[in-house]
Amino acid sequence: MSARIPENLLEDILSRIDIVEIISAYIPLKKAGRNFKANCPFHHEKTPSFIVSPDRQIYHCFGCGESGNAFKFLMRHERMEFPEAVEILAKKAGVVLPEQDKPEAVRAASLSTQLYRINELALGFYESNLNSASASSCRDYLSNRGIRPQTIKQFRLGLASAGWDHLMNFLRSKGVGLVLMEKAGLILPREGGGYYDRFRNRIIFPIFDIRSRVIGFGARVMDKTLPKYVNSPETQVYIKGKNLFGLNLSKDHIRDNDFVVIVEGYLDFIIPYQEGLCNTVASQGTALTLEQVRLLKRYTRNVVMVYDGDSAGEIATLRSLDMLIEEGMQVRIAPLPKGMDPDETVRREGVAVFKDKIQKAKGLFDYKLEVLKTRHNIREAHGKSKIVSEMLSTINRFDNAILRGEYIRRLSEEIRLPEHYIIEEISKLKPRTPAISSETLQGKRKASGINPAEKLLIKFMLEERDLIDKIMQELSPADFSDMRTAKVVSVMHDLFSQGKSIEPKILMNYFNEDEASQLVCESMFMPEFDGKDREKAVNDCISRIKVQRLKSRREHLHMQIKSAQSSGDEQRLNNLMKEFYNLIKKGD
Ligand code: UTP
Ligand code: MN
Repeated sequence: MSARIPENLLEDILSRIDIVEIISAYIPLKKAGRNFKANCPFHHEKTPSFIVSPDRQIYHCFGCGESGNAFKFLMRHERMEFPEAVEILAKKAGVVLPEQDKPEAVRAASLSTQLYRINELALGFYESNLNSASASSCRDYLSNRGIRPQTIKQFRLGLASAGWDHLMNFLRSKGVGLVLMEKAGLILPREGGGYYDRFRNRIIFPIFDIRSRVIGFGARVMDKTLPKYVNSPETQVYIKGKNLFGLNLSKDHIRDNDFVVIVEGYLDFIIPYQEGLCNTVASQGTALTLEQVRLLKRYTRNVVMVYDGDSAGEIATLRSLDMLIEEGMQVRIAPLPKGMDPDETVRREGVAVFKDKIQKAKGLFDYKLEVLKTRHNIREAHGKSKIVSEMLSTINRFDNAILRGEYIRRLSEEIRLPEHYIIEEISKLKPRTPAISSETLQGKRKASGINPAEKLLIKFMLEERDLIDKIMQELSPADFSDMRTAKVVSVMHDLFSQGKSIEPKILMNYFNEDEASQLVCESMFMPEFDGKDREKAVNDCISRIKVQRLKSRREHLHMQIKSAQSSGDEQRLNNLMKEFYNLIKKGD
């Protein structure tokens, strides 16, 4: 989170709002003792492990680890940037953000606000064009493609008419400047000076974010001109890899069905949706990004990919799905016959047939193997080797060793070679190093994995200011074994020495990293200790951390000694040895 917005302002806002009220506007909260509980909105679950604490003004999910204060909740749930969340809560709290020193970030947020407004104006214009008397051929086109008037309204389809400056003139009449129009991606500079409309003589498919704000447009020709679609460029509000077409309409359906169908095109989303298949998103024809997968993972872990007949079976396409597996998603594939896409399948054969194909979708392992068998000769050594190496790149992504083992067994049966050949090949691959960030994304990070003694100490310090001083006389932030704890402790200590508040909900504003605020929340939900027990617990934690500090210093020295030995640096070796003996003496 940005610390550019003055901390006292953030504090002021947080002290005037109630996190319970904010969160319950989005999800139903149930009272549970002093706290409130709900099914976590950030991962799929059947029993509630999402806790909101009115005392601390924080939330924390024991299932996926997602946690934070009211700002963070809005950022996560509504996909807002920090300054935007601040603006909204400031309004709610009746706190005025002083205009002159609105930080740059807030100004950026207001550029976003302007872009949403311009996009909305443009969409209104496109919609009314489609309703005009002269647009009958366009309405016919849509009707021939099986889109009903009600669906046109629901998806807010529109029409960009054939002139070079219709939208530009309209927006100008509404007082929108050219610079902003260009920033919204709606107009393009002309070579000899001046501008022209980006979208001309095309059907407009507006693209919404998850909060149903218009962020961009796809525009399709009605004839055979190329390119078939012209799309908005990336703008401050439209970041392609972070958005999925249709998710604003389908997210609840995806959650309820606990799976998502991923299709390619705008119409592949719209037609099935119109016919009642609503748990879909459209990838807009490109490979999924990590961000998009992360977005989906909030609603489900189960994915069925439906490819147009021509792209299914491309090894490159299948390879791009390995990332889904790495992210812990269950992937299945429903291929369509050549030349068919979901839109056509539903129109020609009905939605029931399409649903049936989805239901019968094969797992990525089986599907990929089937495709590979059509390309390589599985009875011949060279073919076997090709198949194994392609399959291993998928198998190797499974985090679960049992699944990996099972797939290796099946692959060995298929190629009729003993498993140890495959295992030998797998050992040649780069070791699986699941990135920490991807673990975090999977919502499977669960607990932060931080030493409980360190977490408890943080809790004690947060609850009792005076302890900070006492503890900091015995330990320094660097003695905490984890970067995150070290950082939290160091910030707490700083704030303490400046006489500032260190309440958890406020402390969190100082961290950019989710992990640090997760840590703060997690520690607040550690067990309670009273009186004598508490004192003892504090001392225990301190001495444990000291033992750990000694151990890691010893290990560190040990390594330095080794390196001095191998480089033959006598002088340095001597000093290090001395240091090492001193350390051991002190320690025991
Ligand atoms: P398709 O070529 O499959 O188009 O591209 P479509 O969606 O089936 O369109 P219709 O049925 O011919 O009307 C799939 C998606 O890829 C993107 C669009 O998002 C499209 O929906 N695409 C395709 C482009 O962005 N530009 C293009 O020129 C083509
Ligand atoms: Mn199509």
